[in-house]
Amino acid sequence: MILAAGKGTRLKSELPKALHRVAGQPMLAHLLDAVERLAPARTVVVAGYKFSDVKRFVGRRASVARQARQLGSGHAVMAAERALNGFHGTTLVLYCDTPAVTTRTLEKLLEVKRDRGSDCALLSSEMDDPTGYGRVKRAPDGRVTGIVEETDAAADEKSIREINVGGYAFDSKSLFGALKRVRPNEKKGEIYLTDAVGILCGEGRVDALVVEDADETRGANTRAELAALGGIVQDKILERLAEGGVEIRDPRTVTIDADVKIGAGTRILPHTVIEEGSVIGKDCVIGPFARIRGGSKIGDRAVIGNFVEIVRTTIGRGSQVKHLSYLGDAVVGEGVNVGAGTVTANYDGRAKHRTVIRDGARIGSGTVLIAPVTVGRLAVTGAGAVVPKGKNVPDRTTVVGVPAEPLVKRGQKAKRKKW
Ligand code: UD1
Ligand code: CA
Repeated sequence: MILAAGKGTRLKSELPKALHRVAGQPMLAHLLDAVERLAPARTVVVAGYKFSDVKRFVGRRASVARQARQLGSGHAVMAAERALNGFHGTTLVLYCDTPAVTTRTLEKLLEVKRDRGSDCALLSSEMDDPTGYGRVKRAPDGRVTGIVEETDAAADEKSIREINVGGYAFDSKSLFGALKRVRPNEKKGEIYLTDAVGILCGEGRVDALVVEDADETRGANTRAELAALGGIVQDKILERLAEGGVEIRDPRTVTIDADVKIGAGTRILPHTVIEEGSVIGKDCVIGPFARIRGGSKIGDRAVIGNFVEIVRTTIGRGSQVKHLSYLGDAVVGEGVNVGAGTVTANYDGRAKHRTVIRDGARIGSGTVLIAPVTVGRLAVTGAGAVVPKGKNVPDRTTVVGVPAEPLVKRGQKAKRKKW
């Protein structure tokens, strides 16, 4: 169960909190990814603020329960009870604003609950600055005795550095049994999920798994926290890619979204941005100062150089786009060379159109390809050529000029011919 009904008041945004992005992906997507890898019996997202936007985003990945009024995290869980449809088992409850938590950590949490037979196992971590988080209270023998929210904490409780992360594995029956008895918080009037945990501390068994890497457990309530979390998640993405054999020359200046795939042996040079599920092959060179946007696929051994923007475009194996180019909605074959300053004019003010460049073609510097347009196999465009829309440069043909026309060689003299 993922709680995502909150507005995120502190973000001062119309966009529901769950859809704010961290490392290029909505926070909710990070959580859905993390739980899907656990193969749960079912997944329920609790939505409220901008319900239909959240529901549309979730699509078929989970069922969506409605919490009409945001009366607290415990109230949100109760709103999902019906969607669980009498499910008796372990219910994992996560908060949508804690998106860096990993599947591995969730697996460990489920193990703790199973091994110790807990009514609730929760994630905690030691924060250098625990301000704003609920604190985990323990008895002298180490037993968890409850969670106290920052706003309700006495001075000595505020000095506790062990925080409640907002990730719980509950026995479902215990959870809903306890929730029915939670009274609204005195200061805020909300039904706190943490108070249900408190009840279970008294009546049953509550265990905490302390997450080693506190960065993984950070929540994002403000823009500053969201940005800080973005940095943390970005570092983890780059570490994961590096482990997979990707060379990242200067990680401080490289931005790569969470869902991007890159093959081993590829070098990412400084100031490069790779976005939204782009797929890059093996042994490529990307950058410096390249931007690869959503819907792009780059084949093995391709080179994308400086000041090149690629969007919704496929680049074949071994092709090179080395300098100052824009390729949008294009399909580029294998072994193609795209000269400096090539531009696909893919948008005519109304719709976007496709450019096709077939295997082995050579596009001269400063070529403008007005889409829809096709450049054939081993065809050549001269420097500065403007290839008009709707044209199909035949295989092995050279076109030159503005507007470009095929070049035919007669003896020593080259002559232009009409299309
Ligand atoms: C919560 C925890 C706190 C913990 C912190 C970790 C409670 C009472 N407190 O505090 O112990 O340290 O997270 O980041 O749970 N939500 C709903 N409906 C609501 C209220 C909240 O769906 O009516 C969702 C929010 O969208 C969010 C989550 O529950 O995903 C947590 O709510 P939030 O208001 O951010 O709680 P915190 O004050 O951060
Ligand atoms: Ca929060």
